[in-house]
Amino acid sequence: MGLHQLFVAAGKLYFGTAIETNNFNDSAYLSIANNRNEFGMYVPENSQKWEEIQPSPQNFEFEAPDAVLALARRNGQQFRCHTLTWHSQLPSFVENGTWTRDTLAAVIVAHITNVMTHYRGLCYAWDVVNEALNDNGTFRNSVFFRTMGTDFIPLSFAAAARADPSARLYYNDFNLETAPRKAAAAVRIVQLVQAANIPIHGLGFQAHFRVGLTPNVSSLIATQNLFTNLGLEVAFSELDVAHLSLPPNASSVAGQSRDYLSVVQACLAVPKCVGITLWQFTDKYSWIPSTFPGLGDACLYSANFTKKPAYEAVRNYM
Ligand code: XIL
Repeated sequence: MGLHQLFVAAGKLYFGTAIETNNFNDSAYLSIANNRNEFGMYVPENSQKWEEIQPSPQNFEFEAPDAVLALARRNGQQFRCHTLTWHSQLPSFVENGTWTRDTLAAVIVAHITNVMTHYRGLCYAWDVVNEALNDNGTFRNSVFFRTMGTDFIPLSFAAAARADPSARLYYNDFNLETAPRKAAAAVRIVQLVQAANIPIHGLGFQAHFRVGLTPNVSSLIATQNLFTNLGLEVAFSELDVAHLSLPPNASSVAGQSRDYLSVVQACLAVPKCVGITLWQFTDKYSWIPSTFPGLGDACLYSANFTKKPAYEAVRNYM
């Protein structure tokens, strides 16, 4: 039985992975990814981000994410969509534009409306706003926050709800499980949207963890409950667990197994945790080594597609 099959048998909606079209010419990769018993959900790793999907004004590039969607549909997999209002991977016309509150609001609404209308009815969920917070709980200094204060957040969710009423609308961020002031600020974001009577359905925990620094199961459950208490569903949306020094040794390999298992156990323990998405399943395509030099080996499968002890730990527990 594959990971998705086992997770569904345990009552969850999906166990999935990030994937991108530049992986499509790798047949060894695809023979694992395309097995819907292993992965029941795809999310495009980059191709729905603003700089890729609307690189210049009113120029929409849907080819790559459409190809990811087509593959998911051919395999009978679900599709998660990522992401709309985010400070990173923005095209320069947005990042370096001269904006007033009204002109930027119009550009955000047009972006969300165009992109979500294209995928209307096809995305299980959208990460509507991504990473609006600093770890100390203050708002990140983005073009959105500088120009509009926090108004860009309810504005984005309202536009998303209008464009695709069937998609689950998520706020997505990292370190909420380790930075209490950031988690408290995310609670306030949810309340801000809810107070305006605008739909918000889910909280995505990116879950880019480090071996030995991953919160334990009870702490992961407590963080999820901050948001399920507000009526939201939750998900671990970008899971990987990076080794802090390479090559791994016996103790760090055991630590990675323990940390992956903690996330699986924490999701299983919370009825409103709907699923887990890996941020790539193989070290061959993990974003970690190039973004955090010296870290790596973060995925469940090695670069040559062998299953690691962490994989066996997760599968045996499920
Ligand atoms: C990463 C991708 O994996 C990389 O390929 C890209 O170069 C940078 O972005 N938080 C997110 C993801 O929400 O979109 C990021 O993905 C990782 C951190």
